[in-house]
Amino acid sequence: MTFEKKTWPRSLRSQEWFGGTGKNAIMHRSWMKNQGLPADTFDGRPVIGICNTWSELTPCNAHLRELAERVKRGVLEAGGFPVEFPVFSCGESNLRPTAMMFRNLAAMDVEEALRANPVDGVVLLTGCDKTTPSLLMGAASVDLPAIVVSGGPMLNGKWRGKDVGSGTAIWQFSEMVKAGEMTLAEFMDAEQGMARSAGHCMTMGTASTMATMAEALGMTLPGNAAIPAVDAHRRVLAHLSGRRIVDMVKDDLRPSHVLTNAAFENAIRVNGAVGGSTNAVIHLLAIAARVGVPLSLDDWDRMGRDVPTIVNLQPSGKHLMEEFYYAGGLPVVMRTLGDLGLLNRQALAVNGKPIWEGVKDAENFNSDVILPPEEALTPQGGIAVLRGNLAPDGAVLKPSAASPQLMQHRGRAVVFESIEDYHERIGRDDLDIDASCIMVLKYCGPKGYPGMAEVGNMGLPPKLLKQGIKDMIRISDARMSGTAYGTVILHVAPEAAAGGPLALVENGDMIAVDIPARRLHLDVSDEVLAARRATWTSPVRQYSSGYAALYTQHVQQANLGADLDLLVGPRGSHVERDSH
Ligand code: FES
Repeated sequence: MTFEKKTWPRSLRSQEWFGGTGKNAIMHRSWMKNQGLPADTFDGRPVIGICNTWSELTPCNAHLRELAERVKRGVLEAGGFPVEFPVFSCGESNLRPTAMMFRNLAAMDVEEALRANPVDGVVLLTGCDKTTPSLLMGAASVDLPAIVVSGGPMLNGKWRGKDVGSGTAIWQFSEMVKAGEMTLAEFMDAEQGMARSAGHCMTMGTASTMATMAEALGMTLPGNAAIPAVDAHRRVLAHLSGRRIVDMVKDDLRPSHVLTNAAFENAIRVNGAVGGSTNAVIHLLAIAARVGVPLSLDDWDRMGRDVPTIVNLQPSGKHLMEEFYYAGGLPVVMRTLGDLGLLNRQALAVNGKPIWEGVKDAENFNSDVILPPEEALTPQGGIAVLRGNLAPDGAVLKPSAASPQLMQHRGRAVVFESIEDYHERIGRDDLDIDASCIMVLKYCGPKGYPGMAEVGNMGLPPKLLKQGIKDMIRISDARMSGTAYGTVILHVAPEAAAGGPLALVENGDMIAVDIPARRLHLDVSDEVLAARRATWTSPVRQYSSGYAALYTQHVQQANLGADLDLLVGPRGSHVERDSH
């Protein structure tokens, strides 16, 4: 789709509600005026929705109402009328069974709220992991002018004078407690230091990854992703985004103009360069499908394969988001990719310019944080997509978080039939497992959990941790937190609950993993697998009512983005009827 600026002024969508002297227009305006709005508010100026995921139950987004005020200043200055509205806030740290189960519900909320209301454009206020993809998915399906403003990362975690990364430190410290290297009292003492300010996780976890994805896609103003939540620059960016969305409405610059093949190509490469979360794979597949861009799992491997991971942030590297911001942030990474010929420079951004314009002059102020390509953490970052008889539709692994010695490995399967089975047996001294084994977890995929929980990075058996074992291969249909690490093969598709071959693995089977060859093979004959399939029945609960039923009956597999099948695709902003 090409973008041509529209001539302004033109009739706005919001005027279908507020324009004219008919009974309905009077009614729509009259009720709005109970908020103390002057009559000329409805004179045909752009109505800008501020779609807010603020919630005190989503601590990463708890500061977004203040940020919304900054957006409003910008909207008003540019001649627009800002209206803030809430949507389902998909917070990672509290929601059960998993926030991922509600990403699609939140996206549905955003889509319907945008379409049903008199808005001409929208500012999407995001932060915690799923809040970014859910808002982008909903906005993409409606295709009204939209710009993302992230809440920004927390200040670095600190404990006993050292940096501690949110999420990553939880996994590390919990393993250290099990290995006897840290006391429980010390772990609890570190708790407060891991979340010291407003903002989302400050490792390159899923929230930071999705903020970089939004910027790499061109859906934010340049530099959005890394600015700490409490830095004054974050408020300035919100203010400027408020100004910008008014012009986007005037130009009719919509997500379908920005979210093109070129934009997704750039985002995939940026994900490899920043060592981003495996969750980005699922979210970008879902966003692309909403806008009608044919992105596939294999595109991730093909486009990301030769991208060096140059951002030295936890969990793949050393630093945290604060340092990334001080080093120059994502524009430096995108400039480096451009210099390497790994960026589509012409992709359009929401500022109305080619994305290269916003990054071409970026300077690197700390080459220990944003590494020169020749000193990359790994020369082949990106996401490895594995296939084989264990994952006919694919599985993913993040090479930058994996152990080099496990990249080619054949091991005996130790199978956990559910996450409860894992919890019950992992600590037992009589668990028949050694460091060469491969841990297999079933029924944690989209339909199975339900909601595809972040449990794929199963903690290692305490008895092996005490021997100093730091990593083992783990395979599942689950996801893992973007803050986690290890040689963890995730998103196996089809999942066990959908009857995928993962369901047929038994204790003692041999599994061959070859990451360079992208192969994942269960060394069991087709005849034996057919015999096992003949007696297999799904052990997962079947829901007959409520959102869980809608979700489990319609959720797609991970290789397609785990959206609901009935939500895929663009549906536009047109509403046919007014009930009044
Ligand atoms: Fe919200 Fe990590 S829990 S970003």
